[in-house]
Amino acid sequence: MKHLDLSVNVDHVATLRNARGGTHPCPVEASRIAVEAGADGITVHLREDRRHIKDRDVERIRAEIAAPMNFEMAATEEMVAFAERIRPPYCCIVPEKRAELTTEGGLDVLRAGPSLREAVARLSAANVRVSIFIEADAAQIEAAAAIGAAAIELHTGTYAEGPVADRPAQLARLQAGVVAARRAGLLCHAGHGLTYETVTDIARMEEVTEISIGHFLISQSVFEGLPAVVRRFKALIAAARGA
Ligand code: PXP
Repeated sequence: MKHLDLSVNVDHVATLRNARGGTHPCPVEASRIAVEAGADGITVHLREDRRHIKDRDVERIRAEIAAPMNFEMAATEEMVAFAERIRPPYCCIVPEKRAELTTEGGLDVLRAGPSLREAVARLSAANVRVSIFIEADAAQIEAAAAIGAAAIELHTGTYAEGPVADRPAQLARLQAGVVAARRAGLLCHAGHGLTYETVTDIARMEEVTEISIGHFLISQSVFEGLPAVVRRFKALIAAARGA
């Protein structure tokens, strides 16, 4: 089986830090600890309103953490210019609404207009490998390939956060998305809402090469500590992959 990378999203370390306006807990330090515990990469989402991760956090993680950064961003001029400057190895383009609590759904590539294609072209020219956060829908996946994305990130939120009874149908939908990505020649990542309970089914999908986990992983660290939670996710992934 292909290797499956765990990218740890440290946005909510910044959420806690920002609650008191100081410097603790530091997302750069959290990134270092997560990588030491076995995380394969670090994800950050620099939102337009800077509600959690700030520009300086992204710059420092890029400069100080050896593991690859996955930079989540909206396809705006400001974020494309930021990514061109810091040149993360990977970026993931997400839809972003100011009032949402978290990213609510996949990007509608079919209706996105030329600015998305331009963003993908500029990022690719800066040697940033671009993925697009997307629903497991064949037409959307083909559209992502057509505008030059290298990868898609399948939105696992409906599966992970929906009723347990719906999970078989949601898994079948995600699996069809994985197949569509392979046919379109795209790498396939996955993420959103994953927990100890839901990661296994996604990790069993052989073509998925990276999963990104944030909220549960960081919150569970309050009880178990960040290294223990990263190690447990890595063990669950290894077991799912039959390692
Ligand atoms: N992938 C994308 C594109 C996201 O926007 C998020 C949330 O920031 C995640 C993965 C991680 O989701 P969660 O925080 O629920 O693990």
